[in-house]
Amino acid sequence: MMRRGMFAALPAAVIGATLSAALIGFGLNPSASAAEFDPPPLQDWSFSGIFGAYDKASMQRGFQIYREVCAGCHSLKLVAYRNLSALGYSEKEIKAFAAEAEVTDGPNDDGEMFQRPGLPSDRFVPPFANDQAARVANNGAFPPDLSVLTKARYRRMGWEGSDYIYALLTGYGDPPKGVAVGEGLSYNPYFPNRRIAMPPPLADDGVEYADGTKATVDQMAKDVTTFLAWTAEPEMEERKRLGIKVILFLLVMTGMLFALKRKIWADLH
Ligand code: HEC
Repeated sequence: MMRRGMFAALPAAVIGATLSAALIGFGLNPSASAAEFDPPPLQDWSFSGIFGAYDKASMQRGFQIYREVCAGCHSLKLVAYRNLSALGYSEKEIKAFAAEAEVTDGPNDDGEMFQRPGLPSDRFVPPFANDQAARVANNGAFPPDLSVLTKARYRRMGWEGSDYIYALLTGYGDPPKGVAVGEGLSYNPYFPNRRIAMPPPLADDGVEYADGTKATVDQMAKDVTTFLAWTAEPEMEERKRLGIKVILFLLVMTGMLFALKRKIWADLH
């Protein structure tokens, strides 16, 4: 009896699971209704549009925010110190940034791992030894790697990742009356369920900018987002330059073919 019940329930469960998997595949999460978070407002980024380019000064400030604030919890594993030359840093400055990190290397001739200062060729050293340690330090929540965050997840939801990150970083506030947030969580309307395990990471004057810019939450959020847009798509400017060249080439080519066609037909008539 019991057994037949189980088998009868099975097809329904399989169909349900397949359907949800298919929906998730299309970027629609069936469990997240539209009401569970707000869509991020659109911002005007220097790097949007076909002539868009990264603002180097903003990227340098954003890197400072990453280094002094976010790096305590979030890794940036796809970026090597030498990549920072794209932000306009000199070789000497990059060596100094790398040397601040402790890299585990080895094994040496005695078969032992050892610590050494970072080199420009090293990738950014993550704050935790493994994912489990990262969770333990964050009340069980996992701080995701930020390398490709602006690109990977949110494009699927139809948002620019940069708009989402900016909205999230500036979106903390008191919950509406009667809404309980829960232990260790903060209210943030841009995160699924409007509750996030990341405490508000930015506060006015939380850092002192090396270039003297006033460190408001808004400024810091813009700068760190610009920096993260670059880590996710360092080749973006190159790609756009190539795109413009291809379009120009096609225009010239079309003009030439058109002139040629007229000439050929003029002779034939
Ligand atoms: C004290 C640790 C801590 C610091 C500092 C911190 N974060 Fe987080 N962050 C977390 C945790 C934990 C989560 C996961 C939250 C959750 O799952 O509820 C998170 C989530 C995020 C998310 C959302 C990712 C997603 O899945 O949508 C973004 C974006 C983010 N952090 C960016 C930043 C940036 C940028 C900084 C620096 C300005 C920063 N964080 C500083 C701990 C931290």
